[in-house]
Amino acid sequence: MKEWTLLGILVRVVLILLTMQSSSDGFVCEKDAVHCHTSLKIDNAFTMIDPINGPLFVDEGTLRPILQPDKEVSIENVITADGWNTTLPLLTANKSMPGPPIFLYQNQTITIIVQNNLINEAVTIHWHGIDQLGWPAMDGVAFVTQCPILPGQFFNYTFQPRFSGTYWYHSHVGNQRDMGLYGAFIVLKRKGEVPIKNQHIIHLQEWNHKFGPITLLKANLNNTSSSSESILINGKGEFENNEAPHEVFQ
Ligand SMILES: *[C@@H]1O[C@H](CO)[C@@H](O)[C@H](O)[C@H]1NC(C)=O
Ligand SMILES: *[C@@H]1O[C@H](CO)[C@@H](O)[C@H](O)[C@H]1NC(C)=O
Ligand SMILES: *[C@@H]1O[C@H](CO)[C@@H](O)[C@H](O)[C@H]1NC(C)=O
Ligand SMILES: *[C@@H]1O[C@H](CO)[C@@H](O)[C@H](O)[C@H]1NC(C)=O
Ligand SMILES: *[C@@H]1O[C@H](CO)[C@@H](O)[C@H](O)[C@H]1NC(C)=O
Ligand SMILES: *[C@@H]1O[C@H](CO)[C@@H](O)[C@H](O)[C@H]1NC(C)=O
Repeated sequence: MKEWTLLGILVRVVLILLTMQSSSDGFVCEKDAVHCHTSLKIDNAFTMIDPINGPLFVDEGTLRPILQPDKEVSIENVITADGWNTTLPLLTANKSMPGPPIFLYQNQTITIIVQNNLINEAVTIHWHGIDQLGWPAMDGVAFVTQCPILPGQFFNYTFQPRFSGTYWYHSHVGNQRDMGLYGAFIVLKRKGEVPIKNQHIIHLQEWNHKFGPITLLKANLNNTSSSSESILINGKGEFENNEAPHEVFQ
C-alpha cells in the first residue's frame, strides 16, 4: 500500500510539471549558413507516465493506465524506456529521450542555448568529441571549464567544429547522462556526405532500474550496483519480454 501512496505523489507532481511532446526531428543548420542558433531545454520527466492517464503498464505491446487497465494510451506523450511498469525519474532535453539530434556542417559556427528548467539540479552539456580548439570554455565540463548552469539559468554554448563526424552531447554532471540527458551531434562533411534523410541515428544504451540518483548512490555506497536490466535502442527496449514498443526506422 505504501508504494501506491508514493505513486500517487509522483502522479500529482507529473501532472503539474509535464506536458510532454513527441520527440523532435532535431535541428539542422542550413548548408550555406555561417552561424546557426538552436536551444536545448532541460526538464525533469518520468518513464511510463502519461500526462493525463498517469502511470502505465505494457500489455502485449499496448500501453494501459495502471488505474484503468481497460483503456489504451498512445505512446506519443510517453517515454517508455524498457516499459518496466515502475515509474523512474528522467532528465530530458526538449522532453525526449534521447534528446533531439543536432546536425551542422564542418566549420559552421553553432550557438546552442541550454536552458535549465530542472527543479533542483545544476547541469552542463558536453559536446563529446569536439576538440573546442580556440574556445575551451565551451566544452561543458562542470567545475573544469564552467560553473554548472543553475536551475532557472541558461548558458550560451557557441563554437565551431573543425572535423566532420558522428558525435554526441550529454550532461557532464553526476549521472544525469544515464537518466536520459544525451543526444546525437552530427558534423556533416561539406562534400560527398550521405543526405540526412538517408541517415539513421542509432543510440545504444544500457538501462538500469537503479539509475535514480538516490538508489544508485545507495547501491554504490553498499557495493550492490549491478549490471543493467535492459538495452535500449534510441531510448526504447523491452524488459522481461514485456513487448514494450521498439524504435521504428523508416
Ligand atoms: C528544442 O526546442 C526548441 C523549442 O522549444 C527549438 O527551438 C529547438 O530548435 C529545439 N532544439 C533542437 C536541437 O531540436
Ligand atoms: C509489472 O511488472 C512485474 C514484473 O516486473 C509483473 O510481475 C507485474 O505483473 C506487472 N504488472 C502489471 C500491471 O503489468
Ligand atoms: C575549416 O577551417 C579551418 C580553419 O580555418 C581550415 O583550415 C579548414 O580548411 C576548413 N575546412 C573546411 C572543410 O572548410
Ligand atoms: C550567444 O553567443 C554568440 C557568440 O558570442 C552570439 O552571437 C549570440 O548572439 C549569443 N546568443 C544569445 C542568446 O545570447
Ligand atoms: C544496498 O542498496 C540496495 C540498492 O539501493 C538496496 O536494495 C539494499 O537493501 C542495500 N543493502 C544494504 C545492506 O544496505
Ligand atoms: C565490491 O564488490 C566487488 C565485487 O564483488 C569486490 O571485488 C570489491 O572488493 C567490493 N568492494 C568493497 C569496497 O567492498
